[in-house]
Amino acid sequence: MHLLRTVQELRAWSDAQRGAGRRTALVPTMGSLHAGHVSLIAEARRRADAVLVSIFVNPAQFAPHEDLASYPRDLEGDLAACRDAGADAVFAPAPAELYPPGAQTWVEVAELQQPLCGGSRPHFFRGVATVVAKLLVAARPHVAVFGEKDFQQLQVVKRLARDLLLDVEIVGAPIVREPDGLAMSSRNAYLDAAARVEARVLSRALDAAEAAVAAGERDAATLLETVRKEIGRAPNAAIDYAELRDPETLAAVPTVDGPTLLALAVRLPTGASRTERVRLIDNRVLRPQAPSVASGHASRRETTPR
Ligand code: PAJ
Repeated sequence: MHLLRTVQELRAWSDAQRGAGRRTALVPTMGSLHAGHVSLIAEARRRADAVLVSIFVNPAQFAPHEDLASYPRDLEGDLAACRDAGADAVFAPAPAELYPPGAQTWVEVAELQQPLCGGSRPHFFRGVATVVAKLLVAARPHVAVFGEKDFQQLQVVKRLARDLLLDVEIVGAPIVREPDGLAMSSRNAYLDAAARVEARVLSRALDAAEAAVAAGERDAATLLETVRKEIGRAPNAAIDYAELRDPETLAAVPTVDGPTLLALAVRLPTGASRTERVRLIDNRVLRPQAPSVASGHASRRETTPR
C-alpha cells in the first residue's frame, strides 16, 4: 500500500493507474476509521481496480468553537485498517498541501448547503464541498464513495460533481450500525457510558417513524411528534433538528407520499461536568408502500376460474 503525502505524489499515483488502464475509486475520510469507513472501502473495491483512501481532518469544515483540535487522530491505526480493508493507496496530506498559502477559493452548493446541518453549522458544507472538490480534481477518480450516514453531505457532493462538470460517479453506501442500532461515528468516542446509553434514542426514533409509516401514517407533523416523543425518552437529549424532507432537493414535505428523508441531529451532554455536548446525526429514507393495488389485482386473478 502506498502512502502519499503530497498532491504531486497523488497525481503521479493517479496518472500511473489511469496509464495502466485501471479504474480508480476514492474514499474521502477524516481518519479515526471504524467499520462504517471500512464498508466504504469494500464498496470501492467492488467498483474499481485501485482504491485510494484520503485521510485529512479538514480545518475548513470546523467552526472556531468546534472540535478540530480534539478530533480523534490515529494515522498508524488508520493505515493498518486501510491495508486490511484492501486499499491500494492512502493520501494523508498536511493542511498546506490542500490549502496553499493565500488560498481564497471556495465551493458553495447554494441551496443544498442551507437546511438541516447547514442550519446549526453554517460554515460546514462550504468546507466539505471545497475539500471534496479539491480531492476529486487532484485524484481524478472514476468513482468516489460516500456514506449515507451523512445524507445531506452525499447530496451536496453529487450536486457539486454535476455542477463543476467533474467526470466522476458519486456512490452512496448504507449506514453501518452498532449492534444496538447506534450509527457508527468517529465522534461516538466522545460519549461517556451514560451518554452512550442515551444515544440509542436516535435509531429508535427512526424505527418508530418507520413503524408508523408502515402502519399507514403519512402526516409529517404527526410523524415528527412520534420522533420527538421517542427522543424524549432520553431525558438529557436536546434535539438540534428532526425533519422530513425530499431526499434529493431536501425541501420540507408536509406528507410522506413517496421516499422521504427523516433526518435527525441530537446533542447529548457527556463528561464529568456534563457541560460538554456531543452532537450526533442519523437518518433513514422512509418508503411508504402504496395501498395494495397489486394485491387486489392478484386476489382478483386468484378468483378467476381457469
Ligand atoms: P468522516 O466523518 O471521516 O466520514 C468519511 C465517510 O465515511 C463519509 O462518506 C461518511 O458518510 C462515511 N461514514 C461515516 N460513518 C459511517 C457509517 N456509520 N456508515 C457508513 N458510512 C459512514 O464525512 C467526512 O469524514 C468528511 O466530511 C469528508 C467527506 C471526508 C470531507 O472532509
